[in-house]
Amino acid sequence: MSHSRPVCYGAAMELFATAARGTEVALRDELREHRFRRVRADRGGVHFEGDLVEAGRACLESRVAVRVLARLAEHDAQGERALYDGVRAIDWRPWLTPRLTLAVSSVSRDSALTHTQFIAQKTKDAIVDSLRDALGARPSVDLQDADVRVFVHLVRDRATVYLDVSGESLHRRGWRARIGGAPLKETLAAALLRMSGWDRARPLCDPMCGSGTLAIEADLWARGVAPGILRDRFGFERWASHEAGAAARMAALRETARARVKDEGPTIEGSDVDGRVVDLARENARAASAHVSFAVAPLSSFRAPSGAFIVTNPPYGERLQPEERLYAEMGEVFGALAGRDVAILAGTPAIERAMPMRAVKSLPVWNGPIECRLLCYTVSGRTPR
Ligand SMILES: C[S@@+](CC[C@H](N)C(=O)[O-])C[C@H]1O[C@@H](n2cnc3c(N)ncnc32)[C@H](O)[C@@H]1O
Repeated sequence: MSHSRPVCYGAAMELFATAARGTEVALRDELREHRFRRVRADRGGVHFEGDLVEAGRACLESRVAVRVLARLAEHDAQGERALYDGVRAIDWRPWLTPRLTLAVSSVSRDSALTHTQFIAQKTKDAIVDSLRDALGARPSVDLQDADVRVFVHLVRDRATVYLDVSGESLHRRGWRARIGGAPLKETLAAALLRMSGWDRARPLCDPMCGSGTLAIEADLWARGVAPGILRDRFGFERWASHEAGAAARMAALRETARARVKDEGPTIEGSDVDGRVVDLARENARAASAHVSFAVAPLSSFRAPSGAFIVTNPPYGERLQPEERLYAEMGEVFGALAGRDVAILAGTPAIERAMPMRAVKSLPVWNGPIECRLLCYTVSGRTPR
């Protein structure tokens, strides 16, 4: 049996914002600061409540959320038939018409149906059959740039069907000029800044800045630039039922966000030994209208302004011997930064071993599939381990 609540503009819905593993609490705090309702952290994300425009506000304002999903229905799905029947029983007309395109993806845990591609295929079949019955024509599939994205979460043989409010993943802010090297996702960078305890007022430096993600996200956060402001539209703004009232509310939210931006922020600096990535960082900062100064410089010459906060993401797992040398250098350079705070995204325990001081916080966080630690130090200059 399908338990579905009508999802419409103005009606409160159960929403779920997804997050990188380890960043759920940062996302919970962020959504509470933005005054969303009934915010509760869970594995892989945060539950909250609101209507579709509130969900759109989360897409516009959340730096940490990866996607925002709206729960459409839930039903038993012990086998292929039950999955299909439950999805087909949903009224899809408010979201999809034969002129719009569709993509479905799924995850499965502790369930009889395990093959996620098969689950997605069956769900897609049920949606298009339901629409063909109702409207005499079916929408087509577009895996790259669908108008409507559907997620099916199958857990212990129960399927929850979600609509993806965000569309493209929210880490795509719209300012990354080119993909090069191994950039942090913008959403993860924003979570690390929050988890580091940086207060958005002290100067911030990243001496191994790569394409500048941490520094750019820091400036945008400090000056109140909404992370979704460069995105023309979010997923739900392409749905069949998107109407003038909701469009006007979204336009007003975007306008308010633009008006809130501060011209002045704290000093934000990035440097890297590799001139090519510094060029990329400058290009990204220009596209984001971020106020960051970048320089080509090795870590050995790094000088942090007094009272600065350092947040950085050193390389790991590529070239073992040079990395051991770099970690020893990090220990020397950071250990001498009395009066500063240092937060390091460490993908290997070798980094913590190389530090001469003890971490005040060591927080587990996943960079994609890699389990890392965010190591946070307050450097007094007097506390050898
Ligand atoms: C994992 S990447 C940082 C990625 C970055 N967070 C981003 O989002 O693009 C590590 C960076 O450390 C830099 N690096 C390595 N050794 C360095 C050194 N001795 N001094 C300064 N930068 C160094 C590399 O050039 C690389 O860009």
